[in-house]
Amino acid sequence: MPDSLSVATSASATEPLRVVSVPRRPLEAREVRVKVAAIGVNPVDWKMRSGGPLRFLHRFVGPSGPLVVGVDFAGEVIEAAPDADLKVGARVVGATDFSRGQLGSYATEVVVRDDQCALLPATVGFEAAACLPVPGATALRAFEVSKLSAGKRVLMLGASGAVGLATLELARPLGARVVGVCSTRNVALVTSLGATALDYTRGEVFKEAAAHGPYHLVFNAVGTDRYPLAACRPLLAPGGVIALIVVRGADVPAIAFDGRVKSILGRPNRKNLEPLVAALARGELTTRVEARFPLAEAEQAHRLSEGGKVVGKVLLLP
Ligand SMILES: NC(=O)c1ccc[n+]([C@@H]2O[C@H](COP(=O)([O-])OP(=O)(O)OC[C@H]3O[C@@H](n4cnc5c(N)ncnc54)[C@H](OP(=O)(O)O)[C@@H]3O)[C@@H](O)[C@H]2O)c1
Repeated sequence: MPDSLSVATSASATEPLRVVSVPRRPLEAREVRVKVAAIGVNPVDWKMRSGGPLRFLHRFVGPSGPLVVGVDFAGEVIEAAPDADLKVGARVVGATDFSRGQLGSYATEVVVRDDQCALLPATVGFEAAACLPVPGATALRAFEVSKLSAGKRVLMLGASGAVGLATLELARPLGARVVGVCSTRNVALVTSLGATALDYTRGEVFKEAAAHGPYHLVFNAVGTDRYPLAACRPLLAPGGVIALIVVRGADVPAIAFDGRVKSILGRPNRKNLEPLVAALARGELTTRVEARFPLAEAEQAHRLSEGGKVVGKVLLLP
């Protein structure tokens, strides 16, 4: 086994990502080394480069050395600690965690704990799996905080993004009814996933949304600058929740003092990845890959994701 691996990194937010070699580290208890076959790009990957609370946290609890962003990956276990419950040759999907001192997933291989991975059945490909972790775990977390169940209603703000599409598809087998807000070009897609589509480029979204409500979950994947809390609150059913995944400083008082407003974090681990893999294997989750880039072109992948128009996922293939 060579003693180094390749990672995509940059010295500053403005300098483009480039591939460099870094030394391998030995495995610790319960860790596995995974040869990465596909990496799912999430907006948090490029947000981390320019600062924000996660970058701040990374400085204190993350690994030292170059900043390697990226969370989601799929690949094959090539080395396993003796006490790890995954064996060499296992096909897995997983997520890195800098709070455990791990480098990110923009790499030819990653080292993670066994409970950060789920096994993939032979029918599920690496590319499809790499689309899942953060968007899927985030959707499941929103369902958890809103106690979503059959017959309840969801308003998905940002329905055609990775989180939105995962939410639409995962809500379906639960028997929840979803209204998805998207632009004209994505109305057909959102409708095809069983949701009622509302086009934010035409008409008054909140007025139209009210006609289909009230909602047990208003899931805001765009931000309160675009979809303000004051406009969302009247849409809630009794006991309903507004789940925010894009949080501004101005949202903090509402999160602290209004029990209906929750800031949520999608943290993939084996417990939430297993049902996602099962849903993918059953065909309840479909994969939409908008673009694929080699790891050496991670910078272009970030430019595309930053444009805010991606439908589904952007993948990196090391
Ligand atoms: N807290 C967490 O745990 C967590 C987890 C995952 C993601 N996030 C954050 O959540 C956001 C969404 O993530 P993502 O992965 O779904 O992003 P994404 O896939 O890049 O989302 C892009 C989509 O957003 C849609 N969009 C843009 N403006 C919109 C608007 N005004 N109304 C409705 N839709 C709009 C675009 O569709 P149109 O072209 O149709 O507008 C596009 O399809 C990101 O900011 C990300 O950082 C947070």
